Amino acid sequence: MCGIVGYVGDSKSIEVLLGGLRRQEYRGYDSAGIAVIDVDGHLDSRKKAGKLQALVDELESNPIADGATGIGHTRWATHGGPTDRNAHPQLGDNGKLALIHNGIIENFFELKEELLAEGAVFTSDTDSEVAALLVGKAYQETKDVTEALRQVVARLHGAFTLLVVHEDQPGVVVGARRNSPLVIGLGDGENFLGSDVAAFVEHTRRAVEIGQDQIATIRTDSVSVTDFDGNPVETKEYEINWDASAAEKGGWSSFMAKEISEEPEAVAKTLLGRVVAESVRLPELDGIGDEILENIDRIVIIACGTAAYAGMLGKYAIEKWSRIPVDVELSHEFRYRDPILTERTLVVSISQSGETMDTLMAVKYAKEAGAQVLSICNTQGSSIPRESHAVLYTHAGPEVAVASTKAFLAQVTALYLLGLHLGRVRSTINPDEIAAAAAELNDIPEKIAEVLLSAASIKQLAHWMTDTKSVLFLGRNVGFPVALEGALKLKELAYIHAEGFAAGELKHGPIALIEPGQIVFVIVPSPRDPLSLHPKVVSNIQEIRARGARVIAIAEKGDAAVLPFADEVIPIPLAGSLFEPLLAVVPLHIFAMELSAAKGLDVDQPRNLAKSVTVE
Ligand code: AGP
Ligand code: GLU
Repeated sequence: MCGIVGYVGDSKSIEVLLGGLRRQEYRGYDSAGIAVIDVDGHLDSRKKAGKLQALVDELESNPIADGATGIGHTRWATHGGPTDRNAHPQLGDNGKLALIHNGIIENFFELKEELLAEGAVFTSDTDSEVAALLVGKAYQETKDVTEALRQVVARLHGAFTLLVVHEDQPGVVVGARRNSPLVIGLGDGENFLGSDVAAFVEHTRRAVEIGQDQIATIRTDSVSVTDFDGNPVETKEYEINWDASAAEKGGWSSFMAKEISEEPEAVAKTLLGRVVAESVRLPELDGIGDEILENIDRIVIIACGTAAYAGMLGKYAIEKWSRIPVDVELSHEFRYRDPILTERTLVVSISQSGETMDTLMAVKYAKEAGAQVLSICNTQGSSIPRESHAVLYTHAGPEVAVASTKAFLAQVTALYLLGLHLGRVRSTINPDEIAAAAAELNDIPEKIAEVLLSAASIKQLAHWMTDTKSVLFLGRNVGFPVALEGALKLKELAYIHAEGFAAGELKHGPIALIEPGQIVFVIVPSPRDPLSLHPKVVSNIQEIRARGARVIAIAEKGDAAVLPFADEVIPIPLAGSLFEPLLAVVPLHIFAMELSAAKGLDVDQPRNLAKSVTVE
């Protein structure tokens, strides 16, 4: 999620806060705001939808007094569109308290109901305002911000970094974190808080990481860190060794590297609050309703590029669990082929940006044709969700690099959740099967993190292949969309010919392409595969090796049958066949990025490409 900065020091909060937010703009956001306690002890705030400049303009036309205590926020909307009123800070205690939040408060709905029953008045649609009102209420009792925040975080579920200031306590900023980053910057007569060191690296290189379920209280001359129960915790100071521009990518060499590193978190946050008590619940689909969902007789998934490959994986899962026939179509083809759509057709669009014109126009077409339209999207408040009957947001966080990585994994996760939800609503899958699939999904983030540990060896492989002119990718069943995704990444990033094939198709033509030295990646199904495709794919490997291909196999750890026939094997953790693609794709993302970097190309902004194709 987005950017956070806190400051206590001299009366220059506004400059420090805006500078900190500017250095975190790379994280992508849709609104920004600051709150400052001025020299007279008065709390005031300004916030605006749009880019930081809109906030700067607002501060010029409608200024606030500067002060020595302040917090700042760039928001990536998850609950409530990107509007002025949903921007942070959110206020509590009758405007005397300001709170900013990165993450998702999973149980905000019941907490909001509780506050509404007590007569609370909400000014936004955000989950964050619930926390602001709760802390304001607790402050009435504790008269201490740290203790008030401590009381509240004990009740919050989900992922959050929270910063709070109260005008009765100038010179104090309190921060708390669970499943979302927060770091302290130690200055001389001033101290800082940030979601990453980019927030304050221009002022100090002395930092202290705050651990899970910890609260930090910073003053100009002191910093204290406790756990959520109030026990003091040991902290370790470290020296920031990034330069400012590297700090803007969280220390990663590129946004793509940063976003690949966030792939576990993208899956975890997309699951958050949707796998409950071993079942799957998607209240977002209430916009269509169970009755209509029970009556759906066909699903058409529409998307472009990487999102379309996610859709191909979704087809397997949704058909398996809901028994509804699923077609996957490229948005720009779908719209012009006079498709047969009825009110019993569910059209599912997939788009990271929510602005892809081909998909937007196809969504409008489907809606006019009377189909139900559900969108899977990563960008709150974008055009495609606004045109849909319901939207299932992925929570991958902003994806800045043109080549889509973490969003792809989040899209597949959302599609699998949709398949389980439909199966539950239509009783085509029993609770035990749902629980088993939910458990597999919950294990995926950790397994992706394990795959990321092999990044160095994949980087080495890429450096050996900088002269490669052509790479083929083979996969069967759910491995086929992975092959297509791997090929697209290589085209996009390394500018070389790359093609994905269904491995079974090889003998029907493509094997003519195999000549000595041809590089071929093969996504190998698990030897435990119920469809027993493993022996077939191993035969495919032997066929191409017999013709001189150099084979790089992505195979389950311990798959000994592959070893004699592959030049390289990239091992992935064990997972159910349907879930294996979420692991097998990760080395292909890393490989494409590393080959691009090895060739000295622009990893984040490849030639000819835009992050969102907003023309047809
Ligand atoms: C993926 O790496 C590409 N940048 C591209 O294929 C992209 O997936 C496609 O343009 C769809 O974008 P969207 O998800 O924002 O709709
Ligand atoms: N969930 C909060 C909101 O939608 C915070 C989003 C963020 O991390 O920026 O306002």
